[in-house]
Amino acid sequence: MVKHLIGKNRAWSAAKTRVDPDFFRRLVNQQTPEYLWIGCSDSRVPANEIVDLDPGELFVHRNVANLAPPQDANYLSVLQYAIEVLKVKHVIVVGHYGCGGVATAVDGRRHGLIDHWLHPIRETAAEHKAELEALSEGTDRLNRLCELNVMRQVRNVAADVFVHEAWGEGRELAIHGWVYSLNNGLVTDLDCTITSVEEYESFLAASLPR
Ligand code: CO
Repeated sequence: MVKHLIGKNRAWSAAKTRVDPDFFRRLVNQQTPEYLWIGCSDSRVPANEIVDLDPGELFVHRNVANLAPPQDANYLSVLQYAIEVLKVKHVIVVGHYGCGGVATAVDGRRHGLIDHWLHPIRETAAEHKAELEALSEGTDRLNRLCELNVMRQVRNVAADVFVHEAWGEGRELAIHGWVYSLNNGLVTDLDCTITSVEEYESFLAASLPR
């Protein structure tokens, strides 16, 4: 049963209001988050909690293996709303080491529908075959693929027409790639931030498979 969750919700709401009586009243009228988080659905990677942000501060999109596929209407709707209406200044793609989605993508077995969803990860693995095979099989190789997947999704976001329109209007908008460690709760910046068309083009040239 889930009744205990309702009880936990009551306690949470009361605690928030105790600290800040106007907390919910303020949020009713508007949300003005500066960040869009694109992360994995994994229950161990809770977006707001990891960066210690309150309701109203983070716009969140999560799916299996933190993908940003250019044909996915769900992701695209979130991205468009975040950029055009909320006018977020940062889009952060957040992967995590030990991602089950990433591991499933390349385990060589058939799983059904999820195989289609995870297809972009197999493409990324194929593009970086030499680099990945130079690493020891297992954790090292999968963790590197988790990082490469994030960087590939950063590239997808940065390729998007809404992003280019915002840059064209001279708006401040940065696309970041992070990876989260389940072991210690720490995030690592993968240093693949893109803040302009020029940076996107050089990122594209640099990330082409060698
Ligand atoms: Co995951």
